[in-house]
Amino acid sequence: MQNISGWTVDSWKNFPALQQPQWPDTAELDNVVKELSSYPPLVFAGEIRLLESHLEKACRGEAFLLQAGDCAESFLDFSADSIRDKLKVILQMAVVLTYGSGVPVIKVGRIAGQFAKPRSNETEQIGDLLIPSFRGHMVNDETPTLEARRPDPKRLITAYNQSTSTLNLLRAFTKGGFADLSRVHSWNREFVSSSSAGLHYEKIAMDIERALSFMKACGIDLYNEPTIKEVDFFTSHEALILEYEQALTRIDSITGDPYGCSAHMLWIGDRTRQLEGAHLEFVSGIKNPIGIKVGNGVDKNELIKVIEKLNPENKSGRLTLITRFGKNNIDSKLPSLVEALKKNGANVLWICDPMHGNTYLTENNIKTRDFSDVMSELKSFFEIHKSFGTWPGGIHVELTGDGVTECVGGETETSEENLELRYTSMCDPRLNARQAIDMAFRVAEMLSDQKLS
Ligand code: PEP
Ligand code: CO
Repeated sequence: MQNISGWTVDSWKNFPALQQPQWPDTAELDNVVKELSSYPPLVFAGEIRLLESHLEKACRGEAFLLQAGDCAESFLDFSADSIRDKLKVILQMAVVLTYGSGVPVIKVGRIAGQFAKPRSNETEQIGDLLIPSFRGHMVNDETPTLEARRPDPKRLITAYNQSTSTLNLLRAFTKGGFADLSRVHSWNREFVSSSSAGLHYEKIAMDIERALSFMKACGIDLYNEPTIKEVDFFTSHEALILEYEQALTRIDSITGDPYGCSAHMLWIGDRTRQLEGAHLEFVSGIKNPIGIKVGNGVDKNELIKVIEKLNPENKSGRLTLITRFGKNNIDSKLPSLVEALKKNGANVLWICDPMHGNTYLTENNIKTRDFSDVMSELKSFFEIHKSFGTWPGGIHVELTGDGVTECVGGETETSEENLELRYTSMCDPRLNARQAIDMAFRVAEMLSDQKLS
């Protein structure tokens, strides 16, 4: 696998790679990479191209991206129920957002591969002991002992296997009737009728209901129409552990191009998007849609060079910029970036991650996010894009289908005092199911306001 610019599947090794574990046994790592390279791909090039064509539409303002799921998937909390519940919330949000945006919603999970985390510190002090930081279950275990924190290459195989079963279930659910529009709508009706803000959302729910009745009256068989019974659901994760991504890269037999077959879409984190870094080098050679997280440390000129490196042909659908400035910084950071890229003519999809710039520690040292801060960043995101005439192309959120208490506020009115009740995230705080659906209704309102004015 080599392309004209000298890229090969392992050319990233010639560049500095940040946020990589210190694998104690590189011979074992090499064996794992060899083994994984012989396994079947998790996703297929044709599916990746389908996602790219949807994202291309989103770039033109004809679709909206909903990218959502866990901060970090777990090897331990792995069950059919938790996968189903996460999918259920994403489908519920998507229906509401379709109504609000008036365009199809592209559903992409942070799922089936989201097992590796960048960390602010290499090590953690536990009593007298300095141990490696937890880097996600693809690398080590969160238990604070030296033994548990030792990076273990075999975990790459476990991550692959868990991703396989997760994908298998997602494919079954999304094509087997679970995603049926009328069914998803009835879940939303249940939410509205039991929600404290229910009356407020009643209008949107009623409008969706009327649209369904209208389709039925026009003779569309809601129970057998494939576009209503089935949905396309795509997977994504942060491309962090480059040995894993390398091992799952395959040449598409139709086009002869390399595709990262660990997920449909891969993104590069805010900490690993250096122009001359290994992560950029790796994704520059694969054809998948690529996301780039953009935080407060962004340098406009470097970002333009990054975009040119990853998308020399300036194809729409190839690049998604996932901005995550925080509610206090978005107004000072996003406008000049949008302006610079507009001037430059780069075809990018702008989406907002309103989670990662709004994390704070409570007095009890618990990591949380306030629902109203998250909504405030989203509001600014929509307003800024409206003022520039650019399409606010989607949202990127951390959520779970469970009733966790990790973020404060929102529909469940979780307070800082209650956070410890059901805090199960191994990493960042996620919206619970009700907070996530609440968010979708509020975003739908913002989007339909934009459409009307
Ligand atoms: C994440 O999405 O979990 C993450 C670590 O994001 P960022 O790279 O934006 O900090
Ligand atoms: Co996170």
